[in-house]
Amino acid sequence: MTRILAVTGATGVQGGGIINIMKNQRGWKIRAITRNTSSQCAIDLVNKGIEVVAANYDDEKSLSAAFIGVHAIFAVTNWWEHLQQGNSPEESDKLEEQQGMNLANAAASIPTLQHYIWSTTPHVNGYTVPHFDSKARVDKKIREELPALASITTYLSIGWYPQNIAYIPFMQPFINPITKQYMQLMPFAPQARHLVSGDMNINPGVWVRGILSSGSKAHGKYANVALEKLSFQEMLDIWAEVTGKKAMYVQATAETFTNMWGAAGHVMGLQNVLLESCDPWEETDQHVSYDELGIKKEDIIGYREALEGMKQMWE
Ligand SMILES: NC(=O)c1ccc[n+]([C@@H]2O[C@H](COP(=O)([O-])OP(=O)(O)OC[C@H]3O[C@@H](n4cnc5c(N)ncnc54)[C@H](OP(=O)(O)O)[C@@H]3O)[C@@H](O)[C@H]2O)c1
Repeated sequence: MTRILAVTGATGVQGGGIINIMKNQRGWKIRAITRNTSSQCAIDLVNKGIEVVAANYDDEKSLSAAFIGVHAIFAVTNWWEHLQQGNSPEESDKLEEQQGMNLANAAASIPTLQHYIWSTTPHVNGYTVPHFDSKARVDKKIREELPALASITTYLSIGWYPQNIAYIPFMQPFINPITKQYMQLMPFAPQARHLVSGDMNINPGVWVRGILSSGSKAHGKYANVALEKLSFQEMLDIWAEVTGKKAMYVQATAETFTNMWGAAGHVMGLQNVLLESCDPWEETDQHVSYDELGIKKEDIIGYREALEGMKQMWE
């Protein structure tokens, strides 16, 4: 029997990476979810033979309709879109939490559903990281308010994307016109470590494939998409080696970074406080490891290799 995997965020980084792997998986058919079935990304998916269906996270009924008959759902929200639309970090948290619960409630209404995969981020008591906390609050609400859905949910923690250094303006290294050396100005302590996702076109899909083939072994568990935790200094050093550029890491204070980049800078400063204090992705008995999911090391593409694939951007 062919089962249907509904992929939300199908036109984005996470959903796109999952479709990239799962479209070739025997026994599975993809249903890609987007707000706009006429966008170029949606048309590209249709041209690859993928079913594309419209739904909006703000409209639970549209999600329930899009999920009819599916066996698995990958759900991801986009906190940054709320911030870009002029909402404060706190308002963006509320909006993301509501969208996360609209997705979860819609999923809970689907009788054919066997596996729910929710893209989340960790919360550590005593720390505030807006775009992390809102996702973690959805985890908690799924467990407290939707126990039947919780019993078939896997919480997927996706790490730092290698693409960030290329596409996020406040993370891009810039050239010092005097020394000709690249400089990356960040609010993170150089030694602070982050879970790193590796190649976003491959790794999230490899984990989702592993989770879906493991079935109940992954139910109720967290899974870290990554084998690497790198410091910000290490990430820039690897970038410098791969691109052949000289690069210098400079830590800005949280206040300076906020003055430079507004609310986004403020949020990054809060993320640094968390990362300097602990490892929020430390695996516990709540986690299922890559090994237990049947994922092989050779299937995973790490940070260095992912940058190798993008290095022409800096030529
Ligand atoms: N950058 C990192 O290192 C990193 C690491 C871990 C987690 N994250 C998290 O990743 C999330 C973003 O995921 P991404 O990078 O895959 O985003 P992305 O590439 O910007 O794509 C966003 C996707 O979400 C869909 N979407 C947004 N709002 C929607 C709505 N109201 N209804 C239906 N679909 C909607 C968009 O679909 P359409 O526009 O086609 O409708 C699009 O496919 C953020 O919450 C961020 O916190 C980022």
